[in-house]
Amino acid sequence: MLFRQLFDLDTCSYTYLVADAGTKVAALIDPVLEQVERDLKLLNELGLTLKFCLETHIHADHVTGTGKLRSLTECEGIVPENAHAACADRYLSHGDVLMVGDIKISAIETNGHTDSHMAYLVNDTHVLTGDALFIRGCGRTDFQSGDAGTLYDRVTQRLFTLPDDTLVYPAHDYRGQTVSTIGEEKQWNPRFVGKTRAAFIQFMNALDLPDPKKMMEAVPANEQCGRIDMTARSHPI
Ligand code: FE2
Repeated sequence: MLFRQLFDLDTCSYTYLVADAGTKVAALIDPVLEQVERDLKLLNELGLTLKFCLETHIHADHVTGTGKLRSLTECEGIVPENAHAACADRYLSHGDVLMVGDIKISAIETNGHTDSHMAYLVNDTHVLTGDALFIRGCGRTDFQSGDAGTLYDRVTQRLFTLPDDTLVYPAHDYRGQTVSTIGEEKQWNPRFVGKTRAAFIQFMNALDLPDPKKMMEAVPANEQCGRIDMTARSHPI
C-alpha cells in the first residue's frame, strides 16, 4: 500500500493519499481546495489514477478540494450517508467497504462532531479518524448538529475497540503531531481517559470555542461538494 499524509498549513488539515501500488488506483481523503495542484502533482509523479475523493464529514474550517478534483479528473466524490451534500456521487454507510484496487477501506460511522461522520479503516491497519478523534484530543461538538454524548459513545465503542496497534491518523493537528495508535489514545487522550460520559459531555459543552474563520464560506461550499465551476461537470448533479 502507498500511504501519504499531506498537510494544509493554513487550516492545520491533513489530507491522506491511499493507493494500490499494483493497480496504481488512488483515493484522496479530505482534500483541501487550496492544495489541489499539490495533490495532482503528487498523483502524477507517482503515476497514480485518482478514482475516489472521500470526505470524513462536511468540514466547517476549509473548502473541500473534491469539487475541483471531480472537474479535473474522473474521480467520484464520496461522502457519509446523511451528509448534507446532495451532489455527491456516492454515500457510504456504516460497515460499507470501498476497494481502492486491492486496498480495503471500511467505513465506521463516528457521528458526534457532526451528525454525519465516517472514520475510514484502511487495510485494518490505519484508521483515518476525521474529527472524531484527534491525537490527545477530539473534534468540537457545538455546531453542525454535533452531540457530545454521541461522540463519546462512538469513540469509546467503535474506535477504542480497534486493535491497540491500529495507527491513528486524524483530520487535523494543531501541535505538530502526525500519528498515534489506538492503544496510545486509550491510555493518554485527556478528553476520554478517566472521564465518564456525563463528565465528557459537561467538558465539551463548556469549551466555548470561537467559530472557525472560514465557517461561513466552508459549510455552504462543502454542502455543494466544494464545487466552484458548475459547468465543468459532464453530467448533471
Ligand atoms: Fe470538522
